[in-house]
Amino acid sequence: MRNDRSLNTYDIQTAILSNEEVAEAHYLLRCECAEIAQHARPGQFVHVMISQDTGMLLRRPFTIYTVERNEITMLYQIIGDGTKRLSRMLQGEPLQVLGPLGNTFNFTTKPEPAILVGGGAGIASLMLLAAALRENGIQTLGLVGAQRRSRLLSVADLESIGISVHIATDDGSIGHHGYVTDVLTDLLEKPDWSHPTIYACGPHGMLSAVTKVALDFEVPAQIAMENRMGCAMGVCLGCVCPVRIDTDRIEYQRVCTEGPVFNAADIAWDVS
Ligand SMILES: Cc1cc2nc3c(=O)[nH]c(=O)nc-3n(C[C@H](O)[C@H](O)[C@H](O)COP(=O)(O)OP(=O)(O)OC[C@H]3O[C@@H](n4cnc5c(N)ncnc54)[C@H](O)[C@@H]3O)c2cc1C
Ligand code: FES
Repeated sequence: MRNDRSLNTYDIQTAILSNEEVAEAHYLLRCECAEIAQHARPGQFVHVMISQDTGMLLRRPFTIYTVERNEITMLYQIIGDGTKRLSRMLQGEPLQVLGPLGNTFNFTTKPEPAILVGGGAGIASLMLLAAALRENGIQTLGLVGAQRRSRLLSVADLESIGISVHIATDDGSIGHHGYVTDVLTDLLEKPDWSHPTIYACGPHGMLSAVTKVALDFEVPAQIAMENRMGCAMGVCLGCVCPVRIDTDRIEYQRVCTEGPVFNAADIAWDVS
């Protein structure tokens, strides 16, 4: 994975331009961050200071969802105090945004197709990549999973750049009734999609399942990990994940600096 960090990382005091609910418990926040917008690459993230109150001192990481001129957006799910507070913030309220951070998805301009697999808010990590793949003329398909129809994200955004989308929901309220990895497995059995690269982001269990499917079908997969973070600068080691260096050696790597994008097959999923 490529890592362009530190050369072009900016800590920007900005203000919210818009912050709207786009699906149940999910919001799209837009703010002006010219330097971050200029340097953002697919898979990279920002570290956001939501408030300077005690109790909210740690920043929260969010992937850069889209970039347009000097603006970036973040697509986020309400999880705990930080994201709840963020969802209540209004246009004009201040925000401190550090980024772009982390490494990027790798893709070549070879004609092999790409399959994007997003679970829940994980699809946010794949949108800049989706745009880059389309700009490079790479055949790309989106598989989007959600708990239920009301929580489905990004389908219209993917379709608007020419990517067809297959949907899976846990309760069957729209699309395939079951996991997005079922749809992935069906697809890989078809000759047209037998040699793709898979790019995925979502809950830990989904990423582990995607890795298993990729290994079974012997296709490459890159995944963006979303471990909890402290500093996001490579210092606190709060975000590490186990990476298999060779058959009998595991190394803990920092998701904020060595990641968030990893080769799926390198993650030691059986080690906590
Ligand atoms: C590189 C990166 C990119 C991310 N991009 C996005 C994004 O684009 N959109 C989005 O919605 N989310 C994203 N996340 C996850 C997001 O950062 C967390 O959901 C957020 O920090 C939670 O903050 P909070 O204050 O609401 O919850 P907290 O109060 O900090 O936590 C509430 C509960 O959620 C659990 N939790 C918190 N963070 C995580 C996590 N990362 N994984 C698993 N459990 C967690 C905690 O254990 C706790 O039980 C990303 C994470 C990383 C590391
Ligand atoms: S969050 Fe501190 S080292 Fe990654």
